Amino acid sequence: ISLKAYNTFGFDYYADYLVEVNTIDHLKSVLVWAKAKQYAVQILGGGSNILLQGNLQGLVIVNRISGIEEVCASNERVEVSFGAGEIWHECVQWAVENGYGGIENLALIPGTAGAAPVQNIGAYGVEIKDVIKQVTVLDREVLEIKQLPAAECGFGYRESHFKHDWQDRYVIVSVTLNLTRVPKLILNYGGLNAVLTSDSSIRDVFNQVCKVRSEKLPDPNSLGNAGSFFKNPVVNDVKHSALKQKFPDLVSFPFGEQWKLAAGWMNDKAGWKGVRQGGVGVYDKQALVLVNYSDVVADGLLLLEQNIKHSIYECFGVILEREPVLLGERRDD
Ligand code: EPU
Repeated sequence: ISLKAYNTFGFDYYADYLVEVNTIDHLKSVLVWAKAKQYAVQILGGGSNILLQGNLQGLVIVNRISGIEEVCASNERVEVSFGAGEIWHECVQWAVENGYGGIENLALIPGTAGAAPVQNIGAYGVEIKDVIKQVTVLDREVLEIKQLPAAECGFGYRESHFKHDWQDRYVIVSVTLNLTRVPKLILNYGGLNAVLTSDSSIRDVFNQVCKVRSEKLPDPNSLGNAGSFFKNPVVNDVKHSALKQKFPDLVSFPFGEQWKLAAGWMNDKAGWKGVRQGGVGVYDKQALVLVNYSDVVADGLLLLEQNIKHSIYECFGVILEREPVLLGERRDD
């Protein structure tokens, strides 16, 4: 089965088997089936944060478990559980339409609600970990439902246990968010505070985020990509000062005791913005995003990644890390 429609880069690799599951019972039964056959299992959401580099052995399960449910409410707060297969942007829209604040800054991020905690999606001053109460998972070994409180999920900048140790242990079935009826707008990001004030509504924030994102980021439906391809690297004060001296226009943000460098700025400065190599390239409006114009396999993209990493190391002495999760075995024949 072709995975072209299941990864937003649009690479045309194959899975032996693929099934879309809509309920927890359905999920359980396909897991049992795969275990009996001793097939490897890979769970996919919207496929917008993966880099396929080869075919996937065994069974691919596309998580389509749906449902939006208010589980608990008071005058000020409301807890909402979003099924893992819900489209993330539609969850944000739903919250904004109901007047529930907390995720309006996370509008237009591609992917599903269930994938959102995996890399702790974040944008414009908000990370999903800020509003997660708990993540509900199916334990693949014992096939039981378990609630994982946010504090146990190892959330960090584009990180969580789900991306690592828990990858093969749990399947996320829903995410419970703590939303508020009393909006507390987060506008510290440049593109927002220039046009919005404390009198703005969550809908204004939502609209502005949509506007900024559509100006800078390619729509995966028209041009293959997985959002930011690199994480913004974190460096210590000494390294930061040295870089700032050499590049006074360096873009960086305080990150605890350290500094987060804008990898998009570095790629841009090193001349990568808009560069095209064969069927792949660096997006011309945002140098942090790699795009696939026409390739069917990932080899060209992986080569471009190597070339960029090498060049950024030469220029700035900084090692870039890939943000999307690499999947599949690469074949050299
Ligand atoms: N910049 C350039 N040239 C470029 C790109 C960026 O000079 O080609 C400069 C910008 O002018 C800006 C700075 O670099 O001063 C940072 O750029 P931007 O605000 O676009 O954000 P980013 O650091 O590139 C991060 C997230 C995005 C998120 C935005 C907004 C990461 C890896 N990426 O990008 O997340 O939407 O901030 O908060 O942290 C994603 O993860 O897929 C993603 C899109």
